[in-house]
Amino acid sequence: MSTDRSARSGLSRRALLGRGALGAAALSVASASGGALAWSAAAGRSDPTGAHGMRTVPFHGAHQAGIETPAVPPPFAAFIGLDLRPGAGAAELRRVLRLWTDDAARLTAGEPALADPEPELAEQPAELTVTVGLGPEVFDRIGRADARPEWLAPLPDLPIDRLDPAWGQTDLIAAVAAGDPVTLAHAVRTLSRSVRAQATVRWVQRGFREAHGTRPEGATMRNLMGQRDGTVNPVPGTDDFAEVVWDDGAAQPWLAGGTAMVLRRIRIDMDTWEEADPPMRDLSMGRFQGSGAPLTGTEEFDEADFDATDRYGIPVIPPTSHIARARPRAPHERFYRRAYNYDEAPAPGRTSESGLLFVTYQRDVTRQFLPVQERLAEQDALNIWTVPIGSAVYAVLPGIDEGGRLGDTLLPD
Ligand code: HEM
Repeated sequence: MSTDRSARSGLSRRALLGRGALGAAALSVASASGGALAWSAAAGRSDPTGAHGMRTVPFHGAHQAGIETPAVPPPFAAFIGLDLRPGAGAAELRRVLRLWTDDAARLTAGEPALADPEPELAEQPAELTVTVGLGPEVFDRIGRADARPEWLAPLPDLPIDRLDPAWGQTDLIAAVAAGDPVTLAHAVRTLSRSVRAQATVRWVQRGFREAHGTRPEGATMRNLMGQRDGTVNPVPGTDDFAEVVWDDGAAQPWLAGGTAMVLRRIRIDMDTWEEADPPMRDLSMGRFQGSGAPLTGTEEFDEADFDATDRYGIPVIPPTSHIARARPRAPHERFYRRAYNYDEAPAPGRTSESGLLFVTYQRDVTRQFLPVQERLAEQDALNIWTVPIGSAVYAVLPGIDEGGRLGDTLLPD
């Protein structure tokens, strides 16, 4: 059976997109879990182009923005990994979080940051979101090892990993996304500059999905291998999503409303992938590359039948295929995936430097994510062409109300 994603979530696609209705009136859609699943227009401004520049996503709410997004996530993203400066502790972290709270609240509303040297670049919020997380060592630095979630640690060594320290674990992350690359660049610059007395930028990982308006709204993105990526995923705005993603504070009360982020940088070898013919591609994924349908179906959202066999008794979806290995073997083995493509200048002698910024959100990395990742590391037909070269795990802070400061439940003033 083919099921439309927005129909399944019970949200009207038109309500989510609201194109042409971005005048002064706010346009918002409540999320079942209370998240900021909303777009509205920057205060008091109309959108002269009818495009996306004036869209805003509320910064305040029970959860940080940028995770439970509308059907079409912003097409441009940058993940900024920073380290606290030597000797920095709780006071410095508090300062970073105060500065970022202020920057993000302003920029996401279409207002310049304090003393913004380029205030013109803040005029189009373009659905900007900023999502802040903490790495494992921060808890030692601030003398709160007791507050570190149990799952917050680098992933164990995996046989497929060829990790480059250049993309390794950092103390802090600011995940920034926007509908426009200029807005994004300005936000990255602002967030990096404002905390430079307390922290240094180790890496910025930039990624992209299809631009708004280039494909039917709500269509699953295609990665650079050509596959539809993100079909089987918890649907934002549903109780199921909340169950999978949002921390309930049971283990660490300060984290209630936050979540766990895994960021893996996975290189794709385009040269060898392009030697694979269509049947090989489809069999390695367990889905038809063109339609995204499982090999046992005809439409993208058809449910895969992993027990189906052909007339020789051979499974139609190979047990070594990516989806056969990745699908949950137990109900808790689920997480929300939100990938971005990357495509950088190749090193001399290479033809490409492309891949996936593979990002997942879940309550508990060890329980939900790790069993799947370990299964894929053990066997996955896709491993022929994909190599993880970066890996990091963060505790994403809970959302805040107006007047609050990111991280205030962990580090009160
Ligand atoms: C470059 C690396 C990867 C690529 C290109 C890729 C691509 C895909 C594609 C095309 C699908 C099928 C459509 C969909 O449901 O989204 C899929 C499914 C999935 N992938 Fe990946 N993936 C990659 C890495 C990973 C990793 C590292 C994990 C987890 C550790 C993962 C977990 C999953 C899961 C859980 C599904 C859904 C399986 C199901 O049908 O239940 N993928 N992936």
